[in-house]
Amino acid sequence: MNDKQLAACEAANAVKNGMIVGLGTGSTANYFIEALAERQNNEKLQITTVSSSVISFIKAKQLGLSVQSIEQLSHLDLYVDGADEVSPDGTLLKGRGSDLVKEKILATASQQFLVLVDQSKLVNRIGEKFAIPIEVMPFAWQLVKNNLEEMGGTGNLRLNANEDNVAITAHGSLVLDMTFDTEISTPLLNEHLNGLPGVVEHGIFTNLATTILIGKDGKVEERQLK
Ligand code: A5P
Repeated sequence: MNDKQLAACEAANAVKNGMIVGLGTGSTANYFIEALAERQNNEKLQITTVSSSVISFIKAKQLGLSVQSIEQLSHLDLYVDGADEVSPDGTLLKGRGSDLVKEKILATASQQFLVLVDQSKLVNRIGEKFAIPIEVMPFAWQLVKNNLEEMGGTGNLRLNANEDNVAITAHGSLVLDMTFDTEISTPLLNEHLNGLPGVVEHGIFTNLATTILIGKDGKVEERQLK
C-alpha cells in the first residue's frame, strides 16, 4: 500500500454504521471510496454517501455504495477528501480538478472533515507549489483577472487537457489559476476572493478540516485541528 492508500484506509475505519459520508475527488479520494466499499461489504454496514463529482459518483456506484443526491442532503456526518496543499495551520488548497464548488459545500456542511494526504502535500504557505484555482462566471473572467492583477496576482484561464480551448468546470464556469506575491497573506486573499463579485468559488479552504491524516513512510500521522 502506498502512503495515500494507508491514509485512506484509516479514514474508512473512522466511518461508523449509519453515517452519511461525503466523497471527495481525486486519486486519494478514490482509494477512500475503495476502502469504504470494502468495509461496507465485509461488515455489512449501512452507509449512505454523497459525491462531490460525477467521477466519484460513478466509482461509488460501481463499487456498490449507496449514493444520495446533494440536492436532498440536510446533514452530513463526515466528508473525506484529498488536497493539493496543506499549510501548518491546516488551511488547504484544493481544486486542481474542476469540482471545488461541491467540495467546499460538502466540507462546510460536514460535522467532520478528514483530509488525506501524503507528505508531498505539506507546504509552508498556500500557493507554494500550485496556483490558486479561482472559479469564475464565464462573463466575469476578465474583470476578476484585472482585479486580482491589481493585487499583484499573475495567471491565466485554465486550458482543457488538449490545450486547445478553455477548461469548463462541472458547473459551466471558467477557472483562473493565479499566483500571488508572498506579501499577500492567505487570510487576506481568502477574504478578498470571498467578497469579489463574479467569483463562484476558490480553492483556499480555511478553518474547515477537522483532521489531517498524513501518510508518511508507511505510517499514518494524525493531526487534529478541532
Ligand atoms: C480535486 O478538485 C482536488 O481538490 C483534489 O482533492 C486534489 O487535487 C487531490 O488530488 P489527489 O488525491 O489525486 O492528489
